[in-house]
Amino acid sequence: MQTLRHFTHLKDFSPAEFLALADAARALKKTSPKGAPLAGKSLAFCFMNPSLRTQVSCEVAAASLGGHPITLSLGAGGGGTWGMESVEGSVMDGAAAEHLKEAVPVLGRFCAALGLRSFPAGKSWDEDKAEPALTAFRKYSTVPVINLESASGHPCQALADLVTIQERMKPRGKNFLLTWAPHVKALPMAVPNSAVEMASMAGMNVTIARPEGYDLDPEVMKRVADNCARQGGTLNVTDDVTAAYDGRHVVYAKSWGSLRNYGKPPSADADFRAKWMVTPAKMKRTDSALFMHCLPVRRNVVVADAVLDGPWSVVIDQAENRLHAAKAVLLHLLTQTSKTAAPRRTIR
Ligand code: CP
Repeated sequence: MQTLRHFTHLKDFSPAEFLALADAARALKKTSPKGAPLAGKSLAFCFMNPSLRTQVSCEVAAASLGGHPITLSLGAGGGGTWGMESVEGSVMDGAAAEHLKEAVPVLGRFCAALGLRSFPAGKSWDEDKAEPALTAFRKYSTVPVINLESASGHPCQALADLVTIQERMKPRGKNFLLTWAPHVKALPMAVPNSAVEMASMAGMNVTIARPEGYDLDPEVMKRVADNCARQGGTLNVTDDVTAAYDGRHVVYAKSWGSLRNYGKPPSADADFRAKWMVTPAKMKRTDSALFMHCLPVRRNVVVADAVLDGPWSVVIDQAENRLHAAKAVLLHLLTQTSKTAAPRRTIR
């Protein structure tokens, strides 16, 4: 009997397990492991959408641990793989030439772990929330699966974010603000979901500032509320985007699409944008807060230059920590020596 670990959703991890992974990432930042713990292992990182940080951090992490990273543009045609189908029972007379039901186990015959980036389609939240491609990977894979950002979460980003906060403060009891920010597109909710899940698992007091109609998914909010209750933190949701900054230790900015008007871009009204953009005046209301963003970021739409280039910003360290987080996740999934407890699935 074999056991299979995945790293796809924070909800699969207890706060203690997640904090242990962050400890491992911080340790890996200080000291490289001896030898080549992933020697002889190939890892396939599959991207259905663009990436800079996720792709490069995974490739460098795998190579630096002695593994062989392979990056695939999944379903891109041209230089990528065949177009992929994820729905069971579909009549494949469209663009998709291959079903994930074959592709995923085939990749598993070559590779020791699979990563997948699969953004939501942006037409129906109910359909996107089911995460058809990631669900197919979990269902058909015989090797561990890593979520490289799906419709509902970006756990690798959240792990790097926690490391970035821990490098500067003990998170427990500190004040964390997730602020919605303007954008030209309706962006996925993966990063904001994972950011507030992470902060609540770390025992922080979580405030979410968002315009009316931009609430996060109720299931995520329930998990965050439960985490806060268990970890001793608080949870508040507000549309008072100015007062929300008062006394914060961390300001995490991110745009996301509205569930009420799913797939529709936010208003481009200049006053609305000015109200929600992160500015020095807002940051000065905080308790010398860190400014965090997962990147890529649109300057002077999401955040003013003076914040991104100012003393608050830790976004480059945040990006670097993607590498150390990726190493911790790979070792957790692929070595027996990992000290982190692991959710496991039994394969018979
Ligand atoms: N933060 C993040 O996931 O960056 P990429 O989209 O560039 O991978």
